[in-house]
Amino acid sequence: MKAIVLTAYGGPEVLALQDLPMPTPAPGELLIKVSAVALNYANKLIREGVYKTPGVPVVMPGEIEGTVVAIGQDIAGFAPGQKVTGVANAAFAEYALLPAATAMPLPDALPTGKGLLSRACTAELLLQQAPSAASVLITAAGTGVGLYAVQLARLQGKSVIVALAGDERKKQLSLLHGATHAFTYTENWQEALPGIAGEQGIGLVLDATGGDLAASLLPFLGYQGTFLAYGNMSGQPIPVDGTLLAMRSIRVTGASIMTVPPDTQREWIRRLADDALHGRIDAPIEHFPFYQAADAFRHMEARRHQGTIVLEL
Ligand SMILES: NC(=O)c1ccc[n+]([C@@H]2O[C@H](COP(=O)([O-])OP(=O)(O)OC[C@H]3O[C@@H](n4cnc5c(N)ncnc54)[C@H](OP(=O)(O)O)[C@@H]3O)[C@@H](O)[C@H]2O)c1
Repeated sequence: MKAIVLTAYGGPEVLALQDLPMPTPAPGELLIKVSAVALNYANKLIREGVYKTPGVPVVMPGEIEGTVVAIGQDIAGFAPGQKVTGVANAAFAEYALLPAATAMPLPDALPTGKGLLSRACTAELLLQQAPSAASVLITAAGTGVGLYAVQLARLQGKSVIVALAGDERKKQLSLLHGATHAFTYTENWQEALPGIAGEQGIGLVLDATGGDLAASLLPFLGYQGTFLAYGNMSGQPIPVDGTLLAMRSIRVTGASIMTVPPDTQREWIRRLADDALHGRIDAPIEHFPFYQAADAFRHMEARRHQGTIVLEL
């Protein structure tokens, strides 16, 4: 079978298309014919060696969608031909193994790539951290987790959903998906925010950018507001004013999808896949052929993408 092999840690050029033996499922594992692999930002960090793999050469872990072709011993509840998603240890390949314990069924009718919902699950987790917040501000709101957070906030009936994004296209995309107000980072959102948030201030900020942008959002949080960091794209720490936190009882916290048990994620995927199937949520997909993985990474790293990048087999 063909696989994209990480031959060394580094830039997109370290990825090579190679022939590898077909994997065979051990007890508790499913063999999946992969139809789509998500390009999540975490894959860049794996490729660069920031997130550790057992070494190189290696096929990177990642989020796959595909159909069950073989079933290992001691597995109930899965059948050949069934459509599933999950995180595979060696994902960037024509065939991959998924632990049955973490594999999640998908509706057959869901178009290819739309079942890659780990970022939607992350958005679900983030919004659950401050369920009573009536207003939410989301950075990087035109792609990945951010765009799903906009949509889930809309479905939850939040009255104010402020989106900040890197360019005009991503800003428009967030408006199309339910943001009530949207700005590019360089527009004068700081002047507009007090009028938008009203006396209550913003109830919840979801941020994966970190650094000065994140710090500049804190003064817009209302009493007992929550600042939730779920990533740090800028690589910069957030300078925090302790007095501000104390005076307004602001909570600064974080959350990771890795802490959510498989059964809970399966339940979320079931609901989110149904939302995707019936058009209640949607993420535009940018399809790349599997063998163009390096180009797909370059596209992501130039911040040119919208929604979700999918390698299709
Ligand atoms: N905590 C968790 O459980 C969890 C789960 C999934 C992902 N994450 C993290 O969440 C973050 C986003 O992941 P994703 O999968 O949603 O990624 P994505 O779709 O690639 O979105 C990343 C976006 O971040 C923005 N960004 C801001 N500063 C950036 C910078 N210095 N360089 C590049 N992009 C920058 C860009 O949008 P703009 O141009 O609009 O700013 C970019 O489109 C990553 O840090 C990832 O590790 C965390």
